[in-house]
Amino acid sequence: MTGSPHIPVMLDEVLHALEPRDGALYIDGTFGAGGYSRAILSAADCRLIGIDRDPSVRPAAEHLKQAAGGRFAFVEAPFSAMEEVVRTSGGSHVDGIVLDIGVSSMQIDQAERGFSFQKAGPLDMRMAGSGPTAADAVNLLSEQELADIFYVYGEERRSRRVAKFILTAREEAPIETTDRLAEIVSRATGGKHSKIHPATRVFQALRIFVNDELGELARALEASERLLAPLGRLVVVTFHSLEDRMVKSFLRARAGLAGGGGSRHAPVAEAGPEPSFRLLYRKAVEAGAAEAGANPRARSAKLRAAIRTDAPAVTDGSELYRSVVPLARLEAAL
Ligand SMILES: C[S@@+](CC[C@H](N)C(=O)[O-])C[C@H]1O[C@@H](n2cnc3c(N)ncnc32)[C@H](O)[C@@H]1O
Repeated sequence: MTGSPHIPVMLDEVLHALEPRDGALYIDGTFGAGGYSRAILSAADCRLIGIDRDPSVRPAAEHLKQAAGGRFAFVEAPFSAMEEVVRTSGGSHVDGIVLDIGVSSMQIDQAERGFSFQKAGPLDMRMAGSGPTAADAVNLLSEQELADIFYVYGEERRSRRVAKFILTAREEAPIETTDRLAEIVSRATGGKHSKIHPATRVFQALRIFVNDELGELARALEASERLLAPLGRLVVVTFHSLEDRMVKSFLRARAGLAGGGGSRHAPVAEAGPEPSFRLLYRKAVEAGAAEAGANPRARSAKLRAAIRTDAPAVTDGSELYRSVVPLARLEAAL
């Protein structure tokens, strides 16, 4: 594995929330460098399936397999496919699921992966080895679609102006590299006016779009509800507000806490389905001062956790998330 090692974020808090038990089966849906997986396997005589869609984590997974013997298996897959992964391995339910959403330090550090505007490289940004790249998105989507992606996934106020500058630039030549895109965004936003680099939000937006990160998270939350055995635990660590909002509203809704008690104008709704989760913490847990001081990634981390009840999974057909621009739109344009 190239790049600097990934320091697991909020590892103590993750273990505390998951409470690994002997004989139990766990899923680490974001294997990465295996920091969580190793710690869970050391904490109890349990079994664990590591999942990651990035093929470059295989050597780390192989290493852990040697050390953990039959207690650990790795599957290269998106974590939204966790039910299929468990079924294929002969199981039907699991006792705990951890998700550490986002990119790893290794991915950011590898210039050739194209995740960082601070490193010149191809404009790729795919976590898995297949599918459309960020270059495909900036060169093929319409001005309106790009503006929507920057606005919603990057919370970029100047989304329309950035999209306009991209359209002009790509008429001269396709935009193929991270440094060219960073330079176009800097020109569009008028250089450095805030603490963060002007390209930060646009790169985040493209990464979320190309990897369908929010769609993956929504499908994984729903899959967790079906896959966890009663008393099984779901622990999710997120790094930006779009993800945390989704986890928070999903868990609150499933714990029967969404909506509130009604008012004069909106009477109390009929009782919803029986809660399928019980929140472990009322609020998101954040990294302690020492960790936040030592590891900048930990500063934006939020951990939420819940315990599965024995109520059936909710199948009310409501949609947890809808993409602003379907990825299939870009796939069709290729
Ligand atoms: C923040 S790192 C995880 C680090 C890990 N907890 C550790 O301690 O080493 C996130 C990892 O999740 C993977 N990942 C992100 N989204 C994924 C998805 N939808 N399906 C599968 N893997 C995903 C990334 O490829 C990356 O390796």
